[in-house]
Amino acid sequence: MTTIVRTVSDLRARVDKWHGQSHKVALVPTMGYLHNAHIALVEAGKQICSRTVVSIFVNPRQFGPKEDFEKYPRDEQRDLSMLANHQVDLAFVPSLEEMYPLKFSTVVSVPSLTQTLCANTRPSHFSGVATVCAKLFNQCRPDVAVFGEKDYQQLQIIRHLVKDLDIPTEICGVPTVRETDGLAISSRNVYLSKQERARAAQINLILAATATRLTEGHEPAKELTNALSQLNKKVGYTPEYLELCDAETLAPITELNTPARLLTAIIINRTRLIDNWPVMPPTT
Ligand code: PAF
Repeated sequence: MTTIVRTVSDLRARVDKWHGQSHKVALVPTMGYLHNAHIALVEAGKQICSRTVVSIFVNPRQFGPKEDFEKYPRDEQRDLSMLANHQVDLAFVPSLEEMYPLKFSTVVSVPSLTQTLCANTRPSHFSGVATVCAKLFNQCRPDVAVFGEKDYQQLQIIRHLVKDLDIPTEICGVPTVRETDGLAISSRNVYLSKQERARAAQINLILAATATRLTEGHEPAKELTNALSQLNKKVGYTPEYLELCDAETLAPITELNTPARLLTAIIINRTRLIDNWPVMPPTT
């Protein structure tokens, strides 16, 4: 059975008790509308820790003024029954007031990783994510927090944040969970029409093929130009960005001699999709 708590004091009481019993606690932060990719995070948490907490909170501070906060899909009852089916010990479902009381004013930001990629078009998004995650880490004090690699820039920001702020939580990144055709699973996929959905499935194929060619030693500039034209042609929309970046610092790279990441964001009609692929340097 999954216990539901809605206040920080109830959350702390549970987690403190578990720590007193020498349990290790994993936190999986989510915005709800759970799907298989969230469940993969839960399962990863369960591999490392003996107790699992999932937070469900649609965080207004990470949505821009013209973004889909109001229309973001929500279904608490369905989420809670999924968590119960997967033996999650505790769901933390705070209200807006519990997370951001009236005079709340602190902002957490990680400028070295938020001048690039998604931050170019979503300038306040990552400070919203960093602020809510810093709060969740302090509220729950988990031993491990689990995040998906699909939001790769977010994952690197969180890693940086816990290091800079000496937060004693280990960050665990989980490889992107995909539909059978390879489309990265996302709560926003429900917005896609059937035709858009088919086009969206091209994104991962193009990224994967480009990553393979890069690792084979083909020239990055040429491969990126080619991938960009493939995305335009097969997906039918120009990506917001397509970049080859250092896997840790996210600095753009032109020569592949460290582990890298190929990242893209594309808006299909009004649905913004992101995806990324690991790129290893050629072995010779
Ligand atoms: O990845 C998400 O769902 C959100 O950005 C997170 C980490 C739960 C913070 O609101």
